[in-house]
Amino acid sequence: MEIQLWREILEPYQQAVDELVVKFNHIKQEYHNEGMYCPIVQVDGRVKKISSILEKCQRKNVQISQLEEKIEDIAGIRLICQFVEDINTVVELIRKRSDMVVKQEKDYISKSKPSGYRSYHMIVYYVVQTLSGPKQLEAEIQIRTLAMNFWSTIEHSLQYKYKEHMPEELRSRLLRAANAVDALDGEMASVRDEIMNAQNSNHLKASVVSDILNNIENLYHIANKREVVKIQDEFYRIYQSDDMQLLMRFNKELDILAETYRAQSLG
Ligand code: GTP
Ligand code: MG
Repeated sequence: MEIQLWREILEPYQQAVDELVVKFNHIKQEYHNEGMYCPIVQVDGRVKKISSILEKCQRKNVQISQLEEKIEDIAGIRLICQFVEDINTVVELIRKRSDMVVKQEKDYISKSKPSGYRSYHMIVYYVVQTLSGPKQLEAEIQIRTLAMNFWSTIEHSLQYKYKEHMPEELRSRLLRAANAVDALDGEMASVRDEIMNAQNSNHLKASVVSDILNNIENLYHIANKREVVKIQDEFYRIYQSDDMQLLMRFNKELDILAETYRAQSLG
């Protein structure tokens, strides 16, 4: 097939990947804005390389004319979570969306593949708007933890190196490593609440500090300069005390002060 034809075929898939990456990143953003724990830590997307598409067509005995119907992962999205539990949250989130229709799910987490590979796969239908109208295509979404991702990235490059001829010794070492990853995910799950609390309070602190600095900057334009310097010193003092309650109360007081000034300047 000519390169130009490949471009035409792959362009809508590139659009789908771009759009899906934006959408999943906005989900992350929404969680953060709400001060909520976000089940997704990283969003990646790619369009399968032509050489890999050809290789897969050959391996699966698929005619080039049929590749769009038969190859489900031309558009690929990978969602990385911190904890195994988060994967269910993300799966539910995708099931509920109206712009992604689930065609198929594969749960390689409850039951890993013989290689030791663990991940949750969803094939979804997704519609992109093109110059020639709407086009429905398929995308593969892989959802896995950071630890599972670590393992599969390394295993994938070894698979690539050895193709079907991976030495038995290496294969069994990878399987042992996969078991260690499983145990690690289990250990992490047991401290999940603790980690979530720490991360939430980090986010909360960052957002209160940013509010306070914003207020101080606004006050700087409308209030007495000496008073603002005093407020700033007070902020540093409270910040150093590392008392979240004090910090939040101070922020409220600044809100009220800023509001008073604003009312005065309007009146
Ligand atoms: P392919 O394996 O891609 O030919 O398609 P399939 O129809 O067999 O689907 P499957 O769910 O088995 O795999 C889909 C994708 O998951 C693959 O393209 C890989 O990205 C990933 N995957 C599946 N098995 C493994 C594995 O053993 N190791 C690694 N690293 N990745 C895997
Ligand atoms: Mg496979």
